[in-house]
Amino acid sequence: MKNLPVLLIITPFYFLFFLNNYITAVNSSTPSYIPVDNIAMDCGSLTDNDSEDGRKWIKDEPSKFAQTQDQQANSPTKSNYASTAILQPNSGPKVPFSTARIFRSPFTYSFPVTPGPKFVRLYFYPAQYQDFDASKAYFHVKAGSFTLLKNFSANLVAKNLNQDSFMREFCINVAEPDQRLNLTFVPSSSDNYSYAFVNGIEIVSMPTDLYYGVEKGMHPPSFVAQNNQPFEISDNLALETIWRINMGGRSISAKDDTGMYRKWSDQGYSILVTDNHIPFNPRNVTKPIKYSKIKSYTAPDEVYQTALSMGNNMTYNSHHNFTCILPVDRGFNYLVRLHFCEFEDLITRVNDRSFGIYIGNQMAQPFFDVIDFSGGNGIPIYQDYVIDIHSKDNLSIDLHPNEKYSRYPDTILNGVEVFKISKNWNLAGPNPEPEHATPFSNATEKLKKKKKTTLFIGLGSATALLVIILCVVSLVVLWRAKKKKFYYNSYKGKSNRLSKASSLPEEICRRFSLSDIKTATNDFDDELVIGRGGFGNVFRGVIDDGSTVAVKRLNPGSSQGAREFVTEIEMLSQLRYVHLVSLIGYCDDNGEMILVYEYVANGTLRDHIYGSDNDPLPWRQRLEICVGAARGLHYLHAGVKNTIIHRDVKTTNILLDDNWVAKVSDFGLSRIGVSDTAVNTLVKGTFGYLDPEYARNQQLTEKSDVYSFGVVLFEVLCARKPVDAKLDHDQRNLAYWAQKCISEGTIQNIIDPFLMGKIAPECFKKFVEVAQSCVREQRIQRPTMHDVMEKLEFTLMLQEQADNAKEEINPDGVYSYPEVSFCESDRNIPSYDTSGLQSRTHLNSLDSDTSGLSFLSMESESNTANMSKSATSRSTTL
Ligand SMILES: *[C@@H]1O[C@H](CO)[C@@H](O)[C@H](O)[C@H]1NC(C)=O
Ligand SMILES: *[C@@H]1O[C@H](CO)[C@@H](O)[C@H](O)[C@H]1NC(C)=O
Ligand SMILES: *[C@@H]1O[C@H](CO)[C@@H](O)[C@H](O)[C@H]1NC(C)=O
Ligand SMILES: *[C@@H]1O[C@H](CO)[C@@H](O)[C@H](O)[C@H]1NC(C)=O
Repeated sequence: MKNLPVLLIITPFYFLFFLNNYITAVNSSTPSYIPVDNIAMDCGSLTDNDSEDGRKWIKDEPSKFAQTQDQQANSPTKSNYASTAILQPNSGPKVPFSTARIFRSPFTYSFPVTPGPKFVRLYFYPAQYQDFDASKAYFHVKAGSFTLLKNFSANLVAKNLNQDSFMREFCINVAEPDQRLNLTFVPSSSDNYSYAFVNGIEIVSMPTDLYYGVEKGMHPPSFVAQNNQPFEISDNLALETIWRINMGGRSISAKDDTGMYRKWSDQGYSILVTDNHIPFNPRNVTKPIKYSKIKSYTAPDEVYQTALSMGNNMTYNSHHNFTCILPVDRGFNYLVRLHFCEFEDLITRVNDRSFGIYIGNQMAQPFFDVIDFSGGNGIPIYQDYVIDIHSKDNLSIDLHPNEKYSRYPDTILNGVEVFKISKNWNLAGPNPEPEHATPFSNATEKLKKKKKTTLFIGLGSATALLVIILCVVSLVVLWRAKKKKFYYNSYKGKSNRLSKASSLPEEICRRFSLSDIKTATNDFDDELVIGRGGFGNVFRGVIDDGSTVAVKRLNPGSSQGAREFVTEIEMLSQLRYVHLVSLIGYCDDNGEMILVYEYVANGTLRDHIYGSDNDPLPWRQRLEICVGAARGLHYLHAGVKNTIIHRDVKTTNILLDDNWVAKVSDFGLSRIGVSDTAVNTLVKGTFGYLDPEYARNQQLTEKSDVYSFGVVLFEVLCARKPVDAKLDHDQRNLAYWAQKCISEGTIQNIIDPFLMGKIAPECFKKFVEVAQSCVREQRIQRPTMHDVMEKLEFTLMLQEQADNAKEEINPDGVYSYPEVSFCESDRNIPSYDTSGLQSRTHLNSLDSDTSGLSFLSMESESNTANMSKSATSRSTTL
């Protein structure tokens, strides 16, 4: 069954989808990125030349970058030449293709550049130069320690592409001490006929967070099929651009890129067509694009203004994938960047359109919702994945609508970039076979021919084009009718199998054996314990692929039964979001209940605010962490199929990774709830964070998480425990004490002394207002997590603006803000609810250690057990 997609791929179902018969406004605005290094060299040329798009290409004869002192200059047969092609390219641009530099012995160009990542582009036009026959050129190209091309034949590549000339793009990081990028050309063999050549070389800087590093607020690429572990594109890796596609749009030339001269293509990919179905091509090239989540240089607007979708046949959509197939070389890892932007007016809310993403036939993201990840319509986002391609010569991207809970079950894809990742300092793959092209390239070839004719006819009229698409599609479908039947049968078999299956989801979540776990944790070594609680212990461990994980071993006697353990794994393995700790796997051998999570290096938020030796976190970083945690909770509440209520939001369940990104963890008590409907459950949670309304009537809603999060916000501001039995009665419970201070106008007196003078007054007011609104007595008066998230983002912005203004005046960074009080009159929120205050006082009196237990013991026995459990875990953690 696993081979089914492969079967489909090798049947010629391909249909090259293309639509470029529309006119786009010329982008005349200034580019959003200006490269520091920007060298374009017309190799072999005696003069500087302008290419057709107006770019200046500098001459190379004499070359100011030539580093090789021609050792064999005295041997004329080994020297290098500047040469003009005897036959000029008959299509496409003349610059830089019409001249070449010929290397008959190893030759190095050395480019002085600033440190950081660069694009290196090599241009080839394999033609006859003087006596040199293009088919004789086999050579290597190296950049520093990287082999870019090995025994490379530009001639075979051009033939395979069915083009006169072509360009290869690489990304290379120039290390700080070097300040030079050396490019070496070496003929493959040393006989007198062998030579290397190049027509043009470009070196262009790129932003440090574009493909290397991780853009702020974004997730590092996740390694598909390796438990979605983060895969860092580190500085000692080189990349080769294999595909850069503007899905459903026209090709975008180098000069219309965002400043880095990248070319966005409109062809070369295949969309799998089955069942007479034509992909839908939404586009709105006048839609304003808001770059609030990613940088505006990520891709040109046009990439985000056009897309391919499945269309509005829901019957079709729920039984098919949107499948895009891209040829690649096997034996490498690939970085796959998918660009998304919802720009259709219909799609504005979370769950309007959500879909699963498979890369290389493997689950990469079970639930993806562009609006949720980006924050709204017209806001672009991208997702990065790394995939290991070892047994095929193509990469497939499958998107499958989540028909159950999307308002419009469909998919969208705006752009794709695919990069080969260097392996042992090498990027070179084999040359295409001269005679027997692979079945795949055969198929592409055929389609390319079809495309050419169609385009030619279609140029004048969009309608004609559409008719032709229809005809071609119907032909393909009729021609392959038998295969289609096969497809349906197989599909039915597959869904039967799925509905029968009741085992744990092994494909997205790994099952470990007990011996794996014992090896990972040194047989549950006490030294490796990083957390203890009523549920059991958490160990740090290292699994076989070398990655560090957190292993949580539930006590066999834990109140979570085996059934709940399974439900929890099923639920958690579907959650993957930057602000949630992800589940890697589980172990259920010998009645064990063990969960394996991603390891989060910087530990808990609490440990960085108070009660440890760590330096207290600066205010802005605290705000960023609060925003991140709010996003994580919002995702649980609104971003997934069924609302998930965390039920144990606290500063020890907000973890910080090595980049200080907040990750909500510990879903041990989480419940799947239905939004807006209260779920009646046993009261569970942690003292001090517990929603009083829930504690009273056991009606659980997501607003209980909002309450707990409000307590977290006060904790972050005041740097103290949510419940401190040692304090005076009215100060014991932080939520109540903070509200009392707010009502008395003294909140500024109880904040973390470390933060004095560091919080901008307007930011302080807003923050206190948000925190206070979260802990309102009546859940109906509390905001949703979405509101909280947005208000906190605004708060962060206020602080940033204030800091920037201060820094302009005090560039040395020494400044402080005046102390400010938060008065009732400052609030633009409903008036204070005094009845609530009374019940608060009432609850407060109950909320000391023992009376709290007696209060809750009225509910039921198991409650008491649970609460005493939280009491124990509290006393261990506090
Ligand atoms: C590039 O060549 C220069 C000049 O020969 C040399 O000094 C430098 O070490 C080389 N840099 C790298 C990164 O290979
Ligand atoms: C280079 O490639 C050609 C054709 O792909 C092959 O015939 C030749 O043996 C290769 N040479 C080396 C040195 O690998
Ligand atoms: C929708 O798709 C189904 C299944 O692929 C097909 O049978 C049906 O004819 C399609 N409906 C329309 C209106 O195209
Ligand atoms: C979609 O693609 C994935 C990965 O190739 C595959 O596992 C799944 O069965 C496909 N779904 C449908 C409905 O074709």
